[in-house]
Amino acid sequence: MANKVTKIGVLTSGGDSPGMNAAIRAVVRTGLYNGLEVYGIMRGYQGMMDDDIFKMESKSVANIIQRGGTILKTARCKEFYETPGRKKAYDNLIKRGINGLVIIGGDGSFRGAKKFHEEFDIPSVGIPGTIDRDIVGTDFTIGFDTAVNTAVAAIDKIRDTMDAHDRMFIIEVMGRDAGFIALHSGIATGAENILIPERKTDMDAMIKSLQEKEKRKKLVNLIIVAEGDEMGGAEGVNKYIRKHMPDMDTKVAVLGHIQRGGSPSCFDRVIASRMGYTAVESLINGNHNVMIGIKDNRINYTPFEKASKLKTKVSEEWMKIVKILAS
Ligand code: ADP
Ligand code: F6P
Repeated sequence: MANKVTKIGVLTSGGDSPGMNAAIRAVVRTGLYNGLEVYGIMRGYQGMMDDDIFKMESKSVANIIQRGGTILKTARCKEFYETPGRKKAYDNLIKRGINGLVIIGGDGSFRGAKKFHEEFDIPSVGIPGTIDRDIVGTDFTIGFDTAVNTAVAAIDKIRDTMDAHDRMFIIEVMGRDAGFIALHSGIATGAENILIPERKTDMDAMIKSLQEKEKRKKLVNLIIVAEGDEMGGAEGVNKYIRKHMPDMDTKVAVLGHIQRGGSPSCFDRVIASRMGYTAVESLINGNHNVMIGIKDNRINYTPFEKASKLKTKVSEEWMKIVKILAS
């Protein structure tokens, strides 16, 4: 793709995350600063196919840096999985002369971006926007910091009542395939057990340890479960515990989508701004079909091929920390 990028489109795709607006703002203002025309594409790949595209100015992104959600809205788009859907999207870009794309989303969105690029040579750059923090090539994804802080604030509140009643609480946090929200919020709130999709939990050992604690009259126990854990989320874990310890006073709380909303933290606003700026610079400089990340506080580029396939691994050391600190 030798042509100079002159008109770029920006979209948000997949699950929304707090800080996406800050990233959109950075893309728009960096694009305009560099003399590019910038177009907003509504509802991710869906809007690209439906031709729901509009020209953005500097004022289009005024007063949004502090807002959760995404002004461009987001969607999951089935038709984009198939070539005819992607062709429709391509035709709409070409019609407007859009010759560069910034895709803000998760690994699924980058899988779509990779396919789109393979078929239709539109230079694209990705920005990791997901609360799950499971994408390789970056230490943090936009929205993760806000989401874990929301979870921690909620868990702290539950702990007060849990402690007052000498109860066990099983709290479910988000993460269909990834346990990072559970791990971080669990460590930060002093959870006794953290159950994540990436590790099979030894439930017999967990019950044994809870029974020992019961004998010692330690009845306050906090268990954090990622929604995608193999036990079937908090309800599944609660069922298992009640089966083996029928007299135990247990309560379940599912935090749910509260974790995806709200005003982004300072950290998320700053990484979103850095990544948005870098995405446009990257398009201009011919560094295409990569996801922008930040590793060791430095900008890092990961090919879509890798960013859409590989998941960040949970280290054994983290699991050891969880075990030692909860004893
Ligand atoms: P996320 O980006 O948050 O992981 P999804 O996995 O739902 O979210 O992906 C967002 C969208 O990206 C999908 O709805 C679809 O339009 C597109 N997409 C995902 N995977 C593919 C794929 N393999 N081929 C084409 N498009 C895809
Ligand atoms: O954005 C990631 C995520 O929040 C996962 O942790 C969760 O399982 C999933 O999205 C839920 O998505 P939705 O509510 O859009 O179905």
